[in-house]
This record gives sequence, structure tokens and C-alpha cells, in this order.
Amino acid sequence: MRLDQFLSARTMYTRKELRQMLAQGKVKVDGQVVTKGDYKIVPEQNRVCLNGTHVPGNRYLYVLLHKPKGYVSSADEPGQRSVMELVPPEMCRKDLRPVGRLDKDSTGMLLLTDDGQLAHQIIAVRSHVAKYYHIVLARPWEAHYAEKIAAGIVLADGVHCQPARAEKVPGTENEALICLHEGKYHQVRRMFAALGNHVAELARVAMGGMELPPDLPLGRCKILPEKDVQKMLKCESDFARLLQTL
Ligand code: URA
Repeated sequence: MRLDQFLSARTMYTRKELRQMLAQGKVKVDGQVVTKGDYKIVPEQNRVCLNGTHVPGNRYLYVLLHKPKGYVSSADEPGQRSVMELVPPEMCRKDLRPVGRLDKDSTGMLLLTDDGQLAHQIIAVRSHVAKYYHIVLARPWEAHYAEKIAAGIVLADGVHCQPARAEKVPGTENEALICLHEGKYHQVRRMFAALGNHVAELARVAMGGMELPPDLPLGRCKILPEKDVQKMLKCESDFARLLQTL
């Protein structure tokens, strides 16, 4: 495959921008600067770097974002800042989209991919990918919450939630960890509203068997290897251990 075609398909830069970057020596193949767009590469074998960032050769891209507050998860909501603005062009592709949603005021793990089939698997209720949220409540945690959540909360509009697990974070008054296997609109916030409390802060700390990497700063992205994506899909995190880390 031609190097310029590869870069055009795997990044968000225009052909003109890529021509300039090639000419400026900003593209390396296996550690050597390449300035010619027609240079031939094998995407699965050669390591291509643009501006010092590795551009993965694999067909699909999986990006993990540590979402900050103030950004919406949809790609195109007029007048709103989108999480897509936080993905550097070297890590972005044309069909890259967030998988599921985190509210504008929520923080934490958000996966983005151009692999539509995998995105569907993660969101689908029947695939049971667990999502773990660390929450801060406006009022103290009450002992009966865990039992009510385990029985399945009925939201204010009559919608039934699946049974879920929640526990207070030890040593705190009003922090908790909750694990859901579904993702209704504003679900955690609405569950605690139904219990007469209010979620003041919400952070997604793990998805399936994958936890938010402690070295990924707020607002930053990293490319996930396929094995981490499989871990997300096929495993669960240890609730009790996760609770101790909060
Ligand atoms: N539940 C919510 O209420 N908000 C989120 O962002 C995620 C889960």
C-alpha cells in the first residue's frame, strides 16, 4: 500500500496536509524518515509514525479516552464541545465514534472505535458488559440502598432496572461503587433520584475486565491493543478490589 494512502485512510489529515508533513520529514517508517508519498508499506508489518505518534496499521482502531466534564459523547451536537475534539488527528479515523455515552457532566472511561460490530457488542444488553461507576452523592449513603439496587430499582417513569450491585466506599459517608450491565439514559443518576438522593459526581472507572489506566490523565487518549478490548468484552473486574482502590 502507498504510504500517503495509508496515512489518509488511518488519520484525519487531508492529503495536502499529509504531503506537507511528508516533505517536512514528519513521517517515519520503521524509524527512518520517508518523504515520498508513493513509498510502499505493508500496514501489518511496518511501523509508521507521524509527528512522533504511532499510526496503527490494523483494520480497526480502539481508543480509550479519559473523558473530562463539559464534553458531550455524541459527535455532532450543535453548540456543544464533543469528545471527538479530544482525539488527536494521529489517533483519529473517519468512522471513529464513541461507544455508548457518558453524560456531559460525567468523567471516566469512554471507548471510541470504528469497529461497528464491536461497538454493538459492548452496548447490547445481552452481551452483559459490566460498567463500574464511582459516584459521590449529595447526601449520605443509606444502608437500604444496596438491597433495593440488588432487587432492581423502578425509575420515576415506571421503567424497571435490572438488579445491580452497589456498595459504599469504605471510610466515606457519601461515595459508592455501582456496577451495571445495562445503560439506560442517565441511569445511575435516575436510580439514585428514585432512592431520594442525588448524584453529584460520576466517574466510570472500569468496563468489563478493564480498569481506567491510572496513568491516563483526564482529557487524554490512548490506543488500546486488541487484547485489552477482548478483556473489556469477555471479563469482569473484581468489585471488592475495585472498591478498595477508590
Ligand atoms: N449513568 C448516568 O446517569 N450517567 C452516565 O454518564 C453514565 C451512567
